Amino acid sequence: MDCDPGHDDAIALILAGAKHSALEILAVTTVAGNQSVEKNTKNALNILEVMGRKDIGVSVGATRPLIKPASFAAQIHGDTGLDGPKLPEVPTLKPTAKHAVDTIIESLKQSTEPVTIVATGPLTNIATALIKEPSITQYIESITIMGGGTFGNWTPTAEFNIWVDAEAATRVFDSGVPINVFGLDVTHQVLATDEVIQRFAKIENPIARFVVELLTFFKSTYKTHFNMDGGPIHDACTILYLLKPELFTMQHTHIDIEHQSALTYGTMVVDLSNVLQKENNAYFATAVDVPKVWDLIENILESYAQ
Ligand code: BDR
Ligand code: CA
Repeated sequence: MDCDPGHDDAIALILAGAKHSALEILAVTTVAGNQSVEKNTKNALNILEVMGRKDIGVSVGATRPLIKPASFAAQIHGDTGLDGPKLPEVPTLKPTAKHAVDTIIESLKQSTEPVTIVATGPLTNIATALIKEPSITQYIESITIMGGGTFGNWTPTAEFNIWVDAEAATRVFDSGVPINVFGLDVTHQVLATDEVIQRFAKIENPIARFVVELLTFFKSTYKTHFNMDGGPIHDACTILYLLKPELFTMQHTHIDIEHQSALTYGTMVVDLSNVLQKENNAYFATAVDVPKVWDLIENILESYAQ
């Protein structure tokens, strides 16, 4: 899991790393995005500590995008990148000595089975791994991404993760590896409203309480900045799909990333009507079964008590 936690990245980690999860997390790697890579790493370590998953290593990755300077999303995730819950200033867990890019390359090479890379932040580490060691494509089952969509949240047409490092995103979409994309078209359908938060507040365990604190903060910034009635649990869609693909409708399509225009830098160009007649390079999520999403999350949160 390559991430920049981040409230919704935290929820993705919690869903993936539950005790009886069908998914095995080989490594967590961090990237500059919602906040600096230092803050995102600290958050990842604190989240894994709350989850009781001290066995999962965290490796620190890129401090900035490939070409652009770094830009953060403090207005959405706060100064810490994970404002809301009270977390230790200095995490008990420590990151590994290895750079995230080497952790990605080595985890892929060492695995006896094909590996899915889940990317819930800017794609800088993944692009760098593909540039450093192009042969890794043979070990990748899919790259499952939260990013993009047919509209934007950072510019009128660009979503944050893709906009932060559109050059990296271009490299990833040109890689030839199977890609699953969860963009704003579906993530804005799964809003953690008051009703959802109150439902999870009934679950009595520390993880559920942590999630309630995350969602409460996230809901407040989404109200202030986007006038939305709940925080979209963007990044969690990647894990929900890997756990239960039947919850999502996916369209096989061709996706390009705009990285040259000042006006539309970071825009994901999704050819849903097959205008270009180019070879399909991604599965793009177009719909999601929202009630079943909340049921699944509730079940996973409850499982933390057992
Ligand atoms: C994406 O940007 C970040 O703020 C979230 O963590 C998510 O990955 C949504 O645009
Ligand atoms: Ca994220």
